[in-house]
Amino acid sequence: MRASKKILPANQDSLGKCAELLREDELVAVPTETVYGLAGNALSEDAVRKIFEVKGRPLIDPLISHFKNAKSAFEHVEAAEVAERLADAFWPGPLTLVLPKRESIPDLVTAGLPTAAIRVPSHPVLRELLCKLEFPLAAPSANPFGYVSPTRPEHVEKTLGSRIAAILDGGPCMHGLESTVLDLRDPDEPTILRPGPITLQEIEQKTGLKVGTLQKATEDGSPQTAPGLLSKHYSPHTDIVLFRNGRGSEIVPTKGDALILNRKPEQVSGNDTYWLSEDGNLGDIARSFFDLIQKLDRRNYGRLLIEAAPDSGLGVAINDRLKRAAR
Ligand code: TXA
Ligand code: MG
Repeated sequence: MRASKKILPANQDSLGKCAELLREDELVAVPTETVYGLAGNALSEDAVRKIFEVKGRPLIDPLISHFKNAKSAFEHVEAAEVAERLADAFWPGPLTLVLPKRESIPDLVTAGLPTAAIRVPSHPVLRELLCKLEFPLAAPSANPFGYVSPTRPEHVEKTLGSRIAAILDGGPCMHGLESTVLDLRDPDEPTILRPGPITLQEIEQKTGLKVGTLQKATEDGSPQTAPGLLSKHYSPHTDIVLFRNGRGSEIVPTKGDALILNRKPEQVSGNDTYWLSEDGNLGDIARSFFDLIQKLDRRNYGRLLIEAAPDSGLGVAINDRLKRAAR
């Protein structure tokens, strides 16, 4: 791949440059442990407006704010004891908490909702950048609205590269799947709005909480019901067909199809068979599927036939993204 002027290596020079750009309300794509984010000053309406414009995102879809630590995050929301317990257990890391917001966070960030989504990311490069800044960073995934999420700097460059100031290179993302979003509006009933790298079971085991799920996708995207759960999401240009292996519902590939399996098959037939992991490891599948879908999306296949993951643990989040991509 050609050297890119937009993709900056993660050194002190670049971090200083990105901090300056962000102070001037410019946008910078930043690495996180989940996916790359399109970041701007969360406390500046000008910067936040640019995020919506560049991404082509409707203003009814609220953004997550990223903080350097729990203390600074909780200055901007009303944090119940449960929130502190969750922060202790999972921050820094891929858990986003939805809590009643304070006035410091602009209404534009939260799509007018009285709640804010906050998280403390664990990616060391982003943490270092956040520590240089005097403000948190609002950042949705750094893809055009509705398209597949970016897990490598090159993904961002191909889609949004011409429209943003810089892309900070933090390598391929460790999880490859957006954060788990947990609704704490009612602290007695924590509810998962979006499954992610931290599973329901992990949350329950580590905190002793009873956690519910909300898996209802809304078509109209009204912020009052289920923000961000628009059912059509994460879609490549090529049609995606999901199938489950070994349950009598196998799909027979025809000419022009790519077949994408969870694990390397014992025998590979033809050039159009791909796999997301060597041995079915769910972490490997999560890390690779957004990348593989984007690669294959540029190869003129008629359809991508993708094997669903087993429906437990991390597989729940993987299948959530695949189902949305397949609609
Ligand atoms: O891993 C991640 O979460 C990545 C990285 C960059 O941090 N970010 C990300 O952002 O996936 P985005 O904008 O693609 O997804 C944010 C999700 C959306 O589903 C949004 O609707 C939801 O969080 N959200 C944000 N604020 C909310 C709120 N106040 N109430 C309910 N859901 C909210
Ligand atoms: Mg997104």
